[in-house]
Amino acid sequence: MEAFTFYNPTKIMFGKNQITHLGRQMRNGGIKKCILIAGQGSIRENGAYDQVIDSLEKAGIKHTEVWDVEVNPRLAKVREIIEQTKEYGAEAVLAVGGGSVIDTAKAVAAGVYLKDVWNAFVHKEIIKQALPVYTVLTISGSGSEMNGGAVITNIDTRQKWSVTSQHLYPRLSIIDPTLQKTLPFNQTANGAMDAISHILEFYFGNEKALSTLTINEALLRTIIDTTDLLQKEPHDYDARANFAWSTTLALNGLSGVGMRGGDWSCHGIDHALSALHPGISHGEGLAAILPAWIEYLSEKEPARFFRWAKCVWDEENVIRAVRRLRNKLEGWGLATSLRDLSIKPDELDQILDMIMVTPTIGGVFKLNEDEVRALLMLAY
Ligand code: NZQ
Ligand code: ZN
Repeated sequence: MEAFTFYNPTKIMFGKNQITHLGRQMRNGGIKKCILIAGQGSIRENGAYDQVIDSLEKAGIKHTEVWDVEVNPRLAKVREIIEQTKEYGAEAVLAVGGGSVIDTAKAVAAGVYLKDVWNAFVHKEIIKQALPVYTVLTISGSGSEMNGGAVITNIDTRQKWSVTSQHLYPRLSIIDPTLQKTLPFNQTANGAMDAISHILEFYFGNEKALSTLTINEALLRTIIDTTDLLQKEPHDYDARANFAWSTTLALNGLSGVGMRGGDWSCHGIDHALSALHPGISHGEGLAAILPAWIEYLSEKEPARFFRWAKCVWDEENVIRAVRRLRNKLEGWGLATSLRDLSIKPDELDQILDMIMVTPTIGGVFKLNEDEVRALLMLAY
């Protein structure tokens, strides 16, 4: 097992009606004024907005609101909210929504202290401080509610890039699974795909980290089983709750303990796809890449993939396990090829250029340009 540091300061309040605690938690954290950030309106339908406002009012916390954060959230919006946050004098940023809203909130929280927030993404300027971030999660999958990462797209330069900082862990995240019963199934499937890929980006990194591998297999099986249940019955509370908690654990540090930092090629490739086509959601892009990535690598290093095939799919043969994964994703309505995502063959060179910002990609498998081209062809 590799040496590791485990750090996660985010407090989680999980379960029905937990939003009632939000205002008091903020007040106890010294917050009197916050900026509430939201997406395109789903929080009015799922009940989160009314509960949040009620809780803030009861605790005497003043707030202002910013709406319309888009999926694959944009830098221009982040910059706009940074100015509003400063103008209002907010002492905290409150995200009510999914990964897109939370990532925007994190970028804003750091950005109020930076000359240009984008430098933290592209030039890796160190984030030395940030406003406290509070979140109310309404869609599970990204893991952003319990980690220090944020992913933002600069549409002008077609770059979807990420940043990580210990200052960006939310101070508190409230996960009430009942808020997620309004999700259309395709969004639940996107979240499942994302969380599965978070685990698998780490999973093949170190066959000796048995405790982490075993936890990850349990998380993978739980995510797959609960997604199947939710496909049949979106109101199944226990399925929703187990799904939500497993996807949080998939990217809160636990799934990567002793795993050499993970690979992250599939995420890098997906970020290029959605930077070029912002209509492609993160989960959709990953579904088209991840099975091909395993298939491609298992031809080169089959032994690395046997354990996953056996422990997750009960298969002795890796290619059969990849087929089971593809069938599962397709059964959830996800496309598993670039062609089915309507990527045109003549876009592949541009996508390759966007991916290869370094001579190789991947922290574990290190693929060069020719290998990534071959992988894209296989995923096509
Ligand atoms: O905009 P609203 O109205 O809120 O609607 C959202 C959005 O259309 C809707 N939704 C959310 N909760 C709902 C709901 N609809 C009905 N009922 C509810 N309860 O769902 C849609 C998708 O929301 P979004 O926030 O985009 O989804 P997700 O949580 O999957 O976040 C995806 C973003 O997270 C980034 C991705 O790159 C992507 O930009 N990621 C962030 C990570 C991190 N910070 O650690 C890691 C991940 O790898 C990922 O890259
Ligand atoms: Zn992801």
